Parts: sequence; structure tokens; C-alpha cells
Amino acid sequence: MKKKNVIQCLKTNWISSEGKFVREFEKKFSKYNSRKYGVAVSSGTAALEVAIKSLNLKKNSEVLIPAFSIISTALCVIKCGLKPVLIDCNLSTWNTDADQVVKKITKKTSAIIITHIYGLPVNLSKILNTAKKRKIKIIEDAAEVIGLKYKEKICGSFGDLSTFSFYANKHITTGEGGMIITNKKNLFLKCKSLRNLSFSNSYFDRYNHDDIGWNYRMTNLQAALGCGQIDNIKKIIKRKREIGNIYYNNLKNNKNIILQQNKNKYSNNIYWVFGILLKKNIKINRNFLMKKLLKYKIDTRPFFLSMNKQKIFNKMKIFTKDKMPNAEYLSKNGFYVPSGLGISNQEVKYICKILNQILN
Ligand SMILES: Cc1ncc(COP(=O)(O)O)c(C=O)c1O
Repeated sequence: MKKKNVIQCLKTNWISSEGKFVREFEKKFSKYNSRKYGVAVSSGTAALEVAIKSLNLKKNSEVLIPAFSIISTALCVIKCGLKPVLIDCNLSTWNTDADQVVKKITKKTSAIIITHIYGLPVNLSKILNTAKKRKIKIIEDAAEVIGLKYKEKICGSFGDLSTFSFYANKHITTGEGGMIITNKKNLFLKCKSLRNLSFSNSYFDRYNHDDIGWNYRMTNLQAALGCGQIDNIKKIIKRKREIGNIYYNNLKNNKNIILQQNKNKYSNNIYWVFGILLKKNIKINRNFLMKKLLKYKIDTRPFFLSMNKQKIFNKMKIFTKDKMPNAEYLSKNGFYVPSGLGISNQEVKYICKILNQILN
């Protein structure tokens, strides 16, 4: 983190979204991800909302989304007057399967949101080929995998639009924040307009707005942090992988748990978080285990809740007929352990020791 960037904002009074660091961060981040344009916004959720609206998809058309992800993915579709269609995940990668995605494409499908989960990418090739043939738009949500490569190409460089979050637990953080990146100038301009209330470009007619936009601007102070972080990204990723590998090597022989693949034929896990999935029919239940770990001062978090099990969607009678057995299994039996950059190797090994002791 470069304190001097932030101090410069304060000294020069450039603290709002008009400051130079916003543009610098957009440039640096989109270049790092091999894209031409970046639009910095106030969160990853905002990035998804702006991205999907910018595509101007046909009302009530279908958008395929993962059942196992943050609720923001479904919300952006619903808020845009589109129909979310859930895809279940796979038990070894915890990502959606390409075959499942392709199977759910219908004449009504206008877009697919591809979300890379926890540290491994979705196997993209087949989805991208099919989408191209059928003129279906792709939003790639790479919030959890900043810096990860899929077959030697960086994640975030595959979507018509790709989105990121810079919340405090992400590989790059601005406290709160997000970004949309793209190679398409028309989408870039539309996203830029939507994040800033769609003000008119005319000097005299500024307050005559031409769309229903948002104030989702990122401040110069946040972007100043982001600029410092992007310079350190290699170090951050190296350390996240070290932490993930210590966990993996110390837990991989435990017969009661399933871990996300450490690597596969198209990628090496980047370990945004280190997840643990309890196997079926073991004696201990997830919530009991999480509570027990707290007694050892080990703070954990449950996995995402499958979209079809969300209270609000049940109330709205959305996804009521959907069955997502794998996502539901993950939701009930998965949790993740501490893996922030502040953790020491010794602490990671201690957590593994306790886990192996309880789950023997
Ligand atoms: C895949 C994914 N997309 C979007 C978001 C939302 O980001 P934010 O919390 O910045 O709104 C998250 C949050 O963790 C996420 O994991």
C-alpha cells in the first residue's frame, strides 16, 4: 500500500472521483488484465449491475448464473428485468461445469455470467465457443481470482465485460471498490456513463440525464490505494499461494474432507480463500465444527448459500422448483479458514493441526 499516494490526495484536496488516481488505477488494472478499458466503481456488486445494464439485453430474456456464488450475481439480473437461470456446481472444482452451462442454453438466453469460485477458474473454452456461435454475451466475474490464469491467459480477459471487487479480503483492495474491464469502446462508454448517473456530455445541458444510472463512483482516495496495490500484485499472489499450499499439504490426507483442487490441467489454484468441505456421513456437523474451532480461537466462515435456498428468493417465488444438489451440499458442509495476508506459516500449521485432531 502506498501511503504517499493517499497523502497526496489529502494534500492536494483531490479526494472525490475526479482525481487523477482513478484514471491511473483504471489504466493500470485494465492493462494488467490485458484489456483496453477500465471503469472503477464503488463495489463488485456495483460492477455487476453496471455491466449487465450496459449490455441492453432483451427484457425477460434468460441469463445463466452459478447457483453457488454471492447473491449479487442473481440480484443484478433481477434488478435489470431479466430472468436468472441457475447452474449447479461441480464437487471437485466448486465451479459450474461447462457441459451444464451449455445444456441450459435456450433460444431465450441472452447472457451468461461466469464466476470463478474461490481460487480456480471455470473451464471456459466450451462455454466461450458456444456463446460466440449463438451470439450470447459473457460477463466474467473475476472478483475472487485477481491474477489467476486460465490456460496461460489471465482471468478477466475473457468476457465481453469482466468484473472485479476490491473489498478488503480481495487480492487487491481499496477498502470497498470494484472495476469493469472490456475491450469494447461502446461498452466502456456506457459503463462510464451508468456509474455516474448518466449525466449528459453537453457542457450546458449537464443535468439532462439520458439513462437510469447510479452514483457508483470510486473516490480518488480509494484509487490511490489501488494504484499502490497493483504494483505489489506479484508478491500478494505469491504469498496467497504459499498459504494455500501449506493448508493443502497439511490437510490433503485427511479422509474426512474434500479440498478444492490444488491444480488442474488448465490452472493453479490462487487461493482467494482456503475452503474445506466435509465429506458425507462423517460424525461431525459443519456448524458444530465451526463453533468448536472458535474455542481454539480459529474464526471461520460458512460457504455461500445456494441461490435456490435464499430466503428472499423463496419469498419472491424464484427458483422454487430448482434443485441444485451440489451447491446445496457445499452450502451446508463447507467453510473456509483464515488466509489473510497477515497470517503466519506457524498459525496456518496450527489450524491444520487442530483440524486434523478434530477430524481424525
Ligand atoms: C464473485 C464475487 N462477485 C461479486 C462480489 C461482490 O463484491 P462486493 O462485496 O465488492 O460488492 C463478491 C464478493 O465477495 C464475489 O465473491
